[in-house]
Formats: sequence, C-alpha cells, structure tokens
Amino acid sequence: MPLGFEPYKIKAVESIPLTTRAQREKYLRQAHYNLFSLKARNVTIDLLTDSGTGAMSQMQWSAMMRGDESYAGAQSFFNFERSVREITGMHHVIPTHQGRAAENLLFSALVEPGQLVPNNTHFDTTEANVRHKGGVALNLPCREAHDPDSRAPFKGNMDWRGLDRLLREQGRERVPLVMVTVTNNSVGGQPVSLANLRRVREVCDRHGVPLYLDAARYAENCWFIKHRERGQAKRPLLEIARELFGLAHGATMSAKKDGLVNIGGFLATRSKQVARKVTEVMVVIEGFRTYGGLAGRDLEALAVGLREGLEESWLDCRIGQVERLAKKLDDAGVPVQLPAGGHAVFIDAARFAPHVPPLQFPGQSLSCALYLEGGVRTSEIGSVMFASRDEQSGEELPAPMELVRLAVPRRVYTDNHLDYVAQVVIAVHKRRAELRGLRLSYAPQKLRHFLAHFKPI
Ligand code: F0G
Repeated sequence: MPLGFEPYKIKAVESIPLTTRAQREKYLRQAHYNLFSLKARNVTIDLLTDSGTGAMSQMQWSAMMRGDESYAGAQSFFNFERSVREITGMHHVIPTHQGRAAENLLFSALVEPGQLVPNNTHFDTTEANVRHKGGVALNLPCREAHDPDSRAPFKGNMDWRGLDRLLREQGRERVPLVMVTVTNNSVGGQPVSLANLRRVREVCDRHGVPLYLDAARYAENCWFIKHRERGQAKRPLLEIARELFGLAHGATMSAKKDGLVNIGGFLATRSKQVARKVTEVMVVIEGFRTYGGLAGRDLEALAVGLREGLEESWLDCRIGQVERLAKKLDDAGVPVQLPAGGHAVFIDAARFAPHVPPLQFPGQSLSCALYLEGGVRTSEIGSVMFASRDEQSGEELPAPMELVRLAVPRRVYTDNHLDYVAQVVIAVHKRRAELRGLRLSYAPQKLRHFLAHFKPI
C-alpha cells in the first residue's frame, strides 16, 4: 500500500516570495509577457520546470564533500560511472553538464547534414540539436498522443509502424539513429510501454539502425510500466529500468530530472566507436571525459541521486502528488490532460480559451494570467514553442496542441502549495472569457520561447 505521505523529513527551508497583483502586473510588463524573463524572487510558486529545481537529500549533500576535483581519473567519476552502469547496463558512460550537451555530442558523432532523426517526440533542445547538425527531426508519436479524450495508459508510445515505413522508404543511410523519449515530455509527460519499445527495437534491428533513449524521466516511466503494464506489477523498479535500457544501444540523460540533481547529465552507450568519437569531440567543447563540464562534487551528488530517484516510496509520492493536482483541476471542470503525466499537469489551453486562436498563443495567455492571479509561474508548450513553417508558403503553422505545463519540482512543494496552485487555476478558469491573445514583438530564430517578447492584443 502506498504511504500517503512524503517519505522524507524537511531539514532546510527557503522562504517563498509574496507579491501584490499591482507588482505582478508591472513585472509581467517588464518581462515582455515572457515568464522566462521574470526574476525568480518575484515568483510565488515556480512550476516553470522540474529540471534542476529539485531538493537534494542529506546523503547527496554529504557525498558532495567527498568530491574528488582531480582533472582526470577522479574517484567521483568512478562512483558516478558505477551508478549509471548499474541502472543502464551500458559500459561507456560519459558525463556532461546537462542533457543538451549529451545530445550535441551524440549527434556530432552520428548525424550528417540532410539525415533524418525520428523520435516519439523530440523535446525542444533535442530537435534544435538535430537541426544544429544539419539533420531533420521527425516526430512519430502514437495516435492517442494528441487525443485529449484518450485515456490510454501509454500515450507516450512511438508509432512503430510509421517508423518501419520511414525506414523502408529512406533506408539506414538516411536515418543514423532512432530516439525514444521516456517519458514523452512534449506530449504531456506520458509514458512509453516496454511492449512498444520492444516493437521499436525490432524495427530498428530489421533496418540496422541504433536505438537511443532520451532518458531524462526514465524512473517515472518505469513506475508507470510497473503500475500500468500487464505482468510488471511485482518487479522491482531497478529490474524494469534495466530491461528498458537493455532495449537500447545507448541513452542521453538530463540528470536534472530523475537524477535528482541541480546540474548534470550523461551519454551512455554500448558502442565503443561512438564513445571514442564523442570523447574526442568533448575535449573541445565540454571537458575531459572523466568530468564532462561537471565538478567532482556534482558527480558525487549524481551518483547518489540516480539511486534515490528510482526508490519506490519516492516515486509513489511524486506521481501521486501530480495525480492529485490533476484530479482537483479536473473535478473543477478545468480541461487537463488525463491520465496525468509523471512530472507535470498539462492544461489544454485550446479548450480552456477556445476564443483565442492558436497563433495568438492561448497557452502563453493562460500562463501570463496564472502569474497575474497568484504569482504561479508555468510554461507554454504550444505554438510559441513548437509552431512550424509551411515549406512552400513560409506561413506559420500552429503546434498540434496548445498546452500549459505545471511542472512539479522534486521534493520541493507540499500538497498545500499545490492546493494553492489549484485555487489560482480555478479562479482564472472562472473568468476564462477575459483571456486575450498575444502577438510576438520580437522572436529569435531558434528556441524562441526562451527569449521572445509579446504584446497583448
Ligand atoms: N530531453 C528531455 C525529454 C527534456 O525534457 C529536456 C529538458 C532535455 C532533454 C534537455 O535537458 O535541460 O538538461 O539540457 N527539459 C527541461 C524541461 C528544460 O523544462 O522540460 P537539459
């Protein structure tokens, strides 16, 4: 039976900033209606991301004191390597300062200009890194992924038939690797089943293409497998994790999520060739292969965090907390994606504010309203982040979904904090007819959501 409470006590606390509505109006204007430009000290509850925002345990803090800061061959590296090998079963383990650095290194080794990289759904940095190497990032989510009415248990799955078709048409010369993101962040933190991953692996094997996982939230994915996939309920999470990674040739990981650290990541692979290429490239841009842009103490925190991140009682608590928030909102009639994802609740802004057209960014508008209402910071995962261009006309095309993500940092907020968040969302929902669209007044070429400026329409 799940505990029903957090499996930890709180030893250090941080005050929460409180602001008035008049102040928030000013801050929002100064930030050009882009919540990435707010000062964190003006945010009451920060659900912008679950990445690098978690609280570390006393075991992690004490491990940091053992950090071996030697340039090469530090003991901290070997401690970190042992944890990664234990979970992934992969021999070559390369630390990086965060996930996108691992992506950059992997694609530097594997992707040539003009090649295609399919994924169930690329996260924004993954897509940008594929493009950075001249490649084309393709998304092949399963059919239910974009259906808000589907309660399918594994909406993160890949369309393996579509992948097979693609590989038959394009051949392995054009597709240097296939990626699967667990959990699938961009479609709502939805999990991928072992059965689906096995299918994907079969397809990859048939065409001789390696399969890599984007494993940022692999532990949450394993928890979902245990609780939703037939025959998995009695297996320890570590065993499930080993099977999951066992189906892949390699993995990149942003350890800022399920690694329970504030900074860190890695690339793990079974391929000596890939490891060798990456090791050569990384000296120039990331660091020597036994530290990869991290301090020895960061590697120690990660060695411990990776193990804690897979603990059953922790994941029961975490996923339960996210589920409760989703349920509160759903009960109040707020359109949220169900079942809830592992790390976040996703509000369907297209249904929340159907009067705001997609290219006037209903998600951004809702995000701004939540900040104004109660100082809650969230992020838009919709047409600001993922709009595309029609190749012929150059016309802007909306993203498949307009979502607002309430990402829950790990071990940071209690249910009381999230009750407050629910009240804020429900208050905005009652006055949803007042939401107005936004237009872009400045947008950089790549990853525009981080830096764009908006003006209310
Ligand atoms: N892959 C996934 C699935 C991610 O969600 C992220 C980051 C990355 C890779 C990149 O990792 O940030 O360590 O370089 N996601 C964060 C988020 C930023 O808010 O979802 P990174």
